[in-house]
Amino acid sequence: MNSKDFLDIDAISAARLSRLQDRGLRRFLSPTDRLVDGRVIRAGQSMISFSDNDYLGLSLHPKVIDAAIQATLQYGAGSGASRLVTGDNPLNETLEAKLARMKGLPAARVFGSGYLANAGAIPALVGAGDLIVMDELCHASMHAGARLSGARIQSFSHNDVASASQYLQERDATSHALLLTETVFSMDGDLAPLDELATAARETGAWMMTDDAHGLGIVAQNNPAPLQLGTLSKAAGAYGGYIAGPTNFIDLLISRARTFVYATGLPPGVLAAALAALTLMESEPELGRRSLANARLFGSLIGQDNVQSAIVPVLYGEAEVAMRASTTLAQQGFLVTAIRPPTVPEGTARLRFTFSARHKEEDIRRLSKLVLETLAEAGIGK
Ligand SMILES: Cc1ncc(COP(=O)(O)O)c(C=O)c1O
Repeated sequence: MNSKDFLDIDAISAARLSRLQDRGLRRFLSPTDRLVDGRVIRAGQSMISFSDNDYLGLSLHPKVIDAAIQATLQYGAGSGASRLVTGDNPLNETLEAKLARMKGLPAARVFGSGYLANAGAIPALVGAGDLIVMDELCHASMHAGARLSGARIQSFSHNDVASASQYLQERDATSHALLLTETVFSMDGDLAPLDELATAARETGAWMMTDDAHGLGIVAQNNPAPLQLGTLSKAAGAYGGYIAGPTNFIDLLISRARTFVYATGLPPGVLAAALAALTLMESEPELGRRSLANARLFGSLIGQDNVQSAIVPVLYGEAEVAMRASTTLAQQGFLVTAIRPPTVPEGTARLRFTFSARHKEEDIRRLSKLVLETLAEAGIGK
């Protein structure tokens, strides 16, 4: 190692960190025990988390945990290599068949994560000379996949179907066009107008792909998109990503999605946990209903009557104001992390509350009172 290079990297990184710190954008990790009994312990304090995406509580479900243990005992802790290299653990195929059936599409492919699924599937579909038209609030992993594809990217204003349609109409008819949206937006919790977007895509001969990371198990929208991507790390309580769609495209991913070919397969315990969680999701639909009802209760208590998913954002504007509100809630035993730019647009820093089937009404009521107090303190009206 050249010690000058080492010092350069460190000095430049220190300057970058300091600039982030000055702008209130430096991020820190907080050691936290997320315990199987549902408690979260941080700095010795027991808290209730309203900040995770385990919407159905399935990551803590005894059957899911047991499935992970049994598969780990049978197959080991890791999968050894890419699915193409080491041989495909049969749990992958079972999981893919289940996902395809749940999505009502012919086939599905499992990836190492939702991020990897987006980063692999989009470039396998479109490339240089093609056009991607995407909602401006699409997740970072969709943006990553779009950029990796080399296609021209056109973002449309959030949920603005007319603008999406306009961009699609301007496409070069000899190339491919792909319309991208989330089903449930991860930072706002609102829903995409899927039918209208699908019509715009159909009218212009474009393909459409959705990211259902925050919808699965909670929001049962009719989704007309032929390509439906998602993650197993949220309501499915485990880890991994997937995309469902036409059989030949799903087959093509084995050869052309670089994040599939050149990445190690998911650990067997994770595959088994995801399978067990999806089984519970299907057999106990009341879990999703409870999560949604909890979010709606909170929304009604703080004056938001249009809650459509398990995600309820409360906007504080500036990053420091959101951070202060988060600290106040933490002092009262509620873990609600502030979401700041660049994750959300400048001036829209927020607390993003997520609701689980496990949350209790009394806690939601206490939380809502505190939230109203933090808003009043920040001078923000209802
Ligand atoms: C909309 C959306 N897509 C994709 C991802 C990435 O999924 P994963 O965490 O499985 O990589 C996330 C969240 O992390 C997300 O919110």
